[in-house]
Amino acid sequence: MRKELIEAQIVLGKDDVKRELKDSIRRNAWKRIFLVAGNSFFKLPIGRDFAEIEEEMGITVEKFSGFSVNPKLEEAIEGSRAFKAFSGDVIIAIGGGSAMDTGKCIKLFSAVPEEKLFQVPWQDNGVPFVAIPTTAGSGSESTPFAVLYRDGEKLSIEDESIYPLIRVEDARSLAFLPLYQKKVCLMDALSHAMEAIWCKNSVGDSMYYGKEAIETILDFYQAYFENRSDALQKIAYAANQAGKAIAITKTTGGHALSYKLGTLFGLPHGLATSLVNKELYPLMTRN
Ligand SMILES: [Fe+2]
Repeated sequence: MRKELIEAQIVLGKDDVKRELKDSIRRNAWKRIFLVAGNSFFKLPIGRDFAEIEEEMGITVEKFSGFSVNPKLEEAIEGSRAFKAFSGDVIIAIGGGSAMDTGKCIKLFSAVPEEKLFQVPWQDNGVPFVAIPTTAGSGSESTPFAVLYRDGEKLSIEDESIYPLIRVEDARSLAFLPLYQKKVCLMDALSHAMEAIWCKNSVGDSMYYGKEAIETILDFYQAYFENRSDALQKIAYAANQAGKAIAITKTTGGHALSYKLGTLFGLPHGLATSLVNKELYPLMTRN
């Protein structure tokens, strides 16, 4: 995808997440917010911030939580119906890769008549998309990709219009992740970085992002597992760098082979990609 889009993404959260979000909502005159988030998001600091923002600013928030860990096509269609009925000014996805991918597809599907989905080119519905990741792994907050499942089969969706206009860095959420979840998400980020480096589409920027991600993961993963706050931020950064790397190159065989493995054995995405990449690594790095 175009490098300009990656560079144009607005990043909030460097200082104070809640204040910066409020400023952004006020500046953009958003009054009706369509929120795509799982049921447990209100337990996180960002969930509490959001509840306060809603009350303090008198905005209307419609929350959609009807998606699975591996989001299904019909769930995203249902979400786009809810979004159209609500008629929101903005779509904000808060969560892991599933929330991000569902939010992206809601945006994309709402611009196309339902009976024409996958038959006509995607269009931009003109509604801004904001991504607030609460895990460190998918990198979806900085990619133009989404994955859905139709009858158990993977459906890859790509369009520049779903590249998030704004992303919010909020490493506070990472402290609430169970250790196993941290590990499988991190293996996904590591897979993105590795695949972006050995991909035949790799260019200087993707090499740079991928290398930064790998070095940061190797330096900080142990401290991250122990919830050290500097490490939470470093790992959030690394996962995002890895996301940017695959935004340029796309993923490779590691991901392609992992989907079947994941579906057949019910493995988490990051575990499946790392199992495949462990086998591919000696082949891809052989001179
Ligand atoms: Fe992935």
